Amino acid sequence: MSNRTLTHRKAQMSDLDAIEALIDRAIADLQTPFLDEKQIEASRTIMGVDTQLIEDRTYFVVLIDGELAGCGGWSPRSTLYGGDETPGRNGAYLDPAHDPARIRAMYTHPAYARRGVGRRVLSLCEIAAQEAGFQHVKLVSTLAGEPLYRACGYVAVERFTDDRGGTPVPLVRMRKRLSP
Ligand SMILES: CC(C)(COP(=O)(O)OP(=O)(O)OC[C@H]1O[C@@H](n2cnc3c(N)ncnc32)[C@H](O)[C@@H]1OP(=O)(O)O)[C@@H](O)C(=O)NCCC(=O)NCCS
Repeated sequence: MSNRTLTHRKAQMSDLDAIEALIDRAIADLQTPFLDEKQIEASRTIMGVDTQLIEDRTYFVVLIDGELAGCGGWSPRSTLYGGDETPGRNGAYLDPAHDPARIRAMYTHPAYARRGVGRRVLSLCEIAAQEAGFQHVKLVSTLAGEPLYRACGYVAVERFTDDRGGTPVPLVRMRKRLSP
């Protein structure tokens, strides 16, 4: 399948069921080279859709031949990662002059992996964050996400584990300076 068929638009609440189904598949399938079964199950506690991004109009969907192929977003709010159900969310607005914008909730349907969907979403997010005045972006990545972010110029700044799902899940803080 060629990249020429990729299209994108902002997500809307009516996409929610399809987005949730895609995220479920991405978590289950695309993390298998990086995590064991227990870690994948535990990762569900700290991953998932964040409807605040859809409401903020900062969440994108990418389609291939009209089918939902991936999703992801950015945020001018403080929360770093996690879905609606993840504890410790903070909806406070960041200051673009001092704070990095967040890259959030990136997922590709396994049937469309390695076709540039993640790269497209990331590019849309970086452009939008820059238009909003941010000079840096920051994210917390899964091990499955790390190769994508590295390929797109992000650097790892800290490795840690999140054990809120029962089994410790390895994560990586990453950041990037947006080109002027
Ligand atoms: C991370 C994820 C969104 C990447 O999506 P994707 O659409 O397959 O990524 P792209 O096709 O745009 O990849 C762009 C580049 O990133 C790198 N990359 C992406 N996935 C990779 C992998 N599994 N192994 C090695 N490199 C990878 C490659 O350099 C790739 O370019 P190439 O295919 O030309 O070699 C997807 O794997 C996913 O949904 N994973 C499970 C959920 C998850 O962990 N999300 C991240 C949350 S922080």
